[in-house]
Amino acid sequence: MFGPNVFAACLALASSISFGHTAPAVGAAVEARAVADHVVTKQTIFYPPTSYKTPRTLYGRTAQLADGTLLATWENYSPEPPMVYFPIYKSSDKGQTWTSFSTVTDQVNGWGLRWEPFLYVLPQAIGSLPKGTILCAGLSVPDDLSHTKIDLYASKDNGATWSFVSSIAEGGVAISTNGYTPVWEPFLMVYKNQLVAYYSDQRDPAHGQKLVHQVSSDAVNWGAVINDVAYPTYSQRPGMTTIAPLPNGQWIMTYEYGGGPNPKNAGYPVYYRISSSPLTFNSAPGQILNAGGTVPTSSPYVVWSPSGGVNGTIAVSANSSPEIFVNTKLGDPNSWVMYNTPQWGSYSRELRVMDNPDYLLIRYEVAELVGVYVEACV
Ligand SMILES: *[C@@H]1O[C@H](CO)[C@@H](O)[C@H](O)[C@H]1NC(C)=O
Repeated sequence: MFGPNVFAACLALASSISFGHTAPAVGAAVEARAVADHVVTKQTIFYPPTSYKTPRTLYGRTAQLADGTLLATWENYSPEPPMVYFPIYKSSDKGQTWTSFSTVTDQVNGWGLRWEPFLYVLPQAIGSLPKGTILCAGLSVPDDLSHTKIDLYASKDNGATWSFVSSIAEGGVAISTNGYTPVWEPFLMVYKNQLVAYYSDQRDPAHGQKLVHQVSSDAVNWGAVINDVAYPTYSQRPGMTTIAPLPNGQWIMTYEYGGGPNPKNAGYPVYYRISSSPLTFNSAPGQILNAGGTVPTSSPYVVWSPSGGVNGTIAVSANSSPEIFVNTKLGDPNSWVMYNTPQWGSYSRELRVMDNPDYLLIRYEVAELVGVYVEACV
């Protein structure tokens, strides 16, 4: 499993990538990669110019291609016009160095691509998109914030060029107060030959915010909105779905539970659900993440690594904590362990298990820059 020393070394200052191992799909073979995973300390991916608007950068995400190449993107608060866009930066040496590579730009709304990008490499063909296509879902929002749309773009040339594929969901004014009707925070995953788009949804008048998904067999036509987490108390706001496969065939979903019970009285405690299918979290019980009395809060991100013994290791990041929260007992509620790291927490910090699953990448934004850190966590 990931030892405390390794984590401490590995997590400091990484903005995009932190575990040393590749995030495995369950049962997926790790392909040979040209550059072995290695420790990367405090590498800056991008330092925004002073012309950028506060917070300049936020919400970094990465993808890894079949040859080991890493791509990174983030919310990019560049001056408008021109329309805001998602930058794509590239690393061919497992996070050591990064260069500007391409951009994902709004091709349909005239609003820009503003918030909450998510990158995903298709593990199989979906519709006309071949295996290896890189997907980028994110929020298209005009500068007056009057609409929200979760749009899907794809690159069939390893991230060099991007084309609009479909619009997954559309909502109202981009204000995260109950009573408004925006959609937020997409997360993509293929399950049983279909693409699943998870997101946060304020459009249902019965719920201030709920978590939902829609399924597509071709990435173009999307099915009905299905609840994943929807609490009966209107004011409560579950948010920020991330999901990881477990080696026993189960799936773990983490989310922040706005208004949810927390013995620490802090808002947005991290909760999780475990289900035999990633399409049925709505019928699975919610469980608070409590590591010996510490309850992390806000913007969790969950991954699973085969490193760490027969059960592998679940690792969770949250905004409240520079630490990460680890579970080697398949999510058993009494088995969460908190590991110190020399990194500080940041909003919606991404975790990625690297090719060598003893390495974890943590992608963070610190002091308005986007950085990356990869550490060996064996
Ligand atoms: C694996 O997880 C199961 C279920 O929580 C637990 O009973 C078992 O002790 C774990 N194995 C190890 C080696 O930790």
